[in-house]
Amino acid sequence: MKKVKKALLPAAGLGTRFLPVTKSVPKEMLPIVAKPILLHLAEELVSAGIEELILVVPPKGKESLLDFFSSPSADLSDALEASQRQDLLDSLEKVQASLKIRSVIQEKPMGLGHAVLTGKSAIGDEPFAVILGDELSFAPAGTTPILKNLIEVYQETSLSTVAVMSVPSSEVNKYGIIQPQDENANPMRVLSVIEKPSIEKAPSRWALPGRYVFSSEIFEHLQNTDAGVGGEIQLSDAMSLLAETQGLMALKNRCLRYDAGDKLGYIKANIEYGLRDPELGPKLKEYLSSLKL
Ligand code: UTP
Repeated sequence: MKKVKKALLPAAGLGTRFLPVTKSVPKEMLPIVAKPILLHLAEELVSAGIEELILVVPPKGKESLLDFFSSPSADLSDALEASQRQDLLDSLEKVQASLKIRSVIQEKPMGLGHAVLTGKSAIGDEPFAVILGDELSFAPAGTTPILKNLIEVYQETSLSTVAVMSVPSSEVNKYGIIQPQDENANPMRVLSVIEKPSIEKAPSRWALPGRYVFSSEIFEHLQNTDAGVGGEIQLSDAMSLLAETQGLMALKNRCLRYDAGDKLGYIKANIEYGLRDPELGPKLKEYLSSLKL
């Protein structure tokens, strides 16, 4: 069985929910406290044992993503050495030491499915992870990071495995929703996936929060998928084909998940990561409780 060593991070979307900032700053570079979302995601990949990260980027405008992983300037290194604050770059250096990072270009934002297909030659004939560039996952103490869990299920079953979370029925139209064979099981076998269904058409309330492990067969199905909802090549449609042929599993997410591509989700993530920060947390808590709302 081949090990899951590579991850694709689609980051070629337009980020319209975060305009005007995303006109010149990629949303993956927006900070959660002082780390860009991209570094939080890269740390999650390292904790799951991933060795190579492939960023899917547009032809222009996201050069800062790869650039972020390059060495600091001589001036910055000298200043950090003089002030004995080299620790400020520790988290970045740990990732640099563990992950090989490169990018592939998606010429046009033709949907998440198309973004994944763009990574085909970089992935080759291997299983791989997909992690969305605007979804954060936090594993509370005693919980295994969801991506690590997905890789374990893949290794036990040899089947592509995706994370799912339960959402209220009023929100099923915002997500890809799975049709499980038996929703009491965990992992559950997936029968089909529907992109952004209406409440009436939703086969369950199990939604996809943006963490996947696929065998390379997903590429064949993406190639055979026509543009679906919104004229985009939907990953959900290819996942349905995968479920019908090779098989697809879904694992219930027990980690905390933040939609950092949405304004409210982004602010919540900053508050909660800030509260968890040993230096900042107590002061932020005091400030929040002093607010007269
Ligand atoms: P979203 O649709 O949530 O993000 O895609 P978006 O298009 O960037 O943002 P909004 O909705 O306009 O605010 C989910 C992820 O898939 C990537 C996005 O970058 C995002 O991380 N994506 C989407 C691509 O890489 N290529 C695409 O063609 C579409």
